[in-house]
Amino acid sequence: MTGFLRRSAQSDAEFDPSRPILSAEGVHHWYYSPERKSFVTALEDLSLSVRRGAFVALLGPSGCGKSTLLNMFAGLIAPSLGVVRYQGQAITAPNTQAAYVTQNDSLLPWRRVAANVGLPLEVRGVPAREREERVAQVLNQVGLQGFERAFPSELSGGMRKRVGLARVLVTNPNLVLMDEPFGALDAQLRARLHAEFLRLWSERGMTVVFVTHDIDEAVTLAQEVYVFASRPGRIRARIDIDLPFPRDVEEIRYSARFVELSHRLRDELRLANPVIEEH
Ligand SMILES: Nc1ncnc2c1ncn2[C@@H]1O[C@H](COP(=O)(O)OP(=O)(O)OP(=O)(O)O)[C@@H](O)[C@H]1O
Ligand SMILES: [Mg+2]
Repeated sequence: MTGFLRRSAQSDAEFDPSRPILSAEGVHHWYYSPERKSFVTALEDLSLSVRRGAFVALLGPSGCGKSTLLNMFAGLIAPSLGVVRYQGQAITAPNTQAAYVTQNDSLLPWRRVAANVGLPLEVRGVPAREREERVAQVLNQVGLQGFERAFPSELSGGMRKRVGLARVLVTNPNLVLMDEPFGALDAQLRARLHAEFLRLWSERGMTVVFVTHDIDEAVTLAQEVYVFASRPGRIRARIDIDLPFPRDVEEIRYSARFVELSHRLRDELRLANPVIEEH
């Protein structure tokens, strides 16, 4: 795909592909709650590793520490105990190699859609002409052509989500961290974005770690799913999603293997979180 930023040659050359691109080793995290005057255990003894180029889902109920873990991979918070690594190096500062679609969109309200999406390119000094082309291309990919000049306040929740996604894709990142990126979208649009995103993932060889509450979404997209248990947040199971690629995101849910895997994830979630009602 032409026109996108090249990957960092340096980091590619230095990196041993047999090592995981991301790992968490014996991670614990406590937040202090001033109201309760005590610590909340957000993560307890969590270890996992992510292969380069993998598509990994973190699945679990609200409050089980999914965003906390993504924030660690993004280098925004440090574990209270244990270590998180990117390409073997401990993450001790914001991880500039990771593109992060946060749970709450962080669009700049005073910038129009195109200027929000083009911001990471501006920061990297990409010339205006090339920036415009790339922004137009990626807005088209997320179905927002025609909204270049709108302000974030003029958009629906789902559209804002898509602007956030576009802003990440425009940089052609090696590693994408996504926190419920496809929530708040209608079923048809969701399926379209799922298909588009899977295509981009396989073309570009990105590594993707994404958070979801949605079992079917995890099975549709991911190669492996970590099921989280809550209170305290920890990993209950790691399940391989052995459905072949390319996947037809609309048809795949009717396959016997899809149904089997969904049931397995549902059972794991129930066992891990017995008091939590399904929604
Ligand atoms: N800044 C904070 N200060 C205090 N407690 C926090 C903070 N951030 C998160 N927590 C607590 O840590 C736990 C894990 O939170 P986290 O946001 O990682 O969960 P989550 O799995 O992403 O949930 P959700 O699916 O609702 O987004 C929760 O109990 C939450 O209340
Ligand atoms: Mg969260």
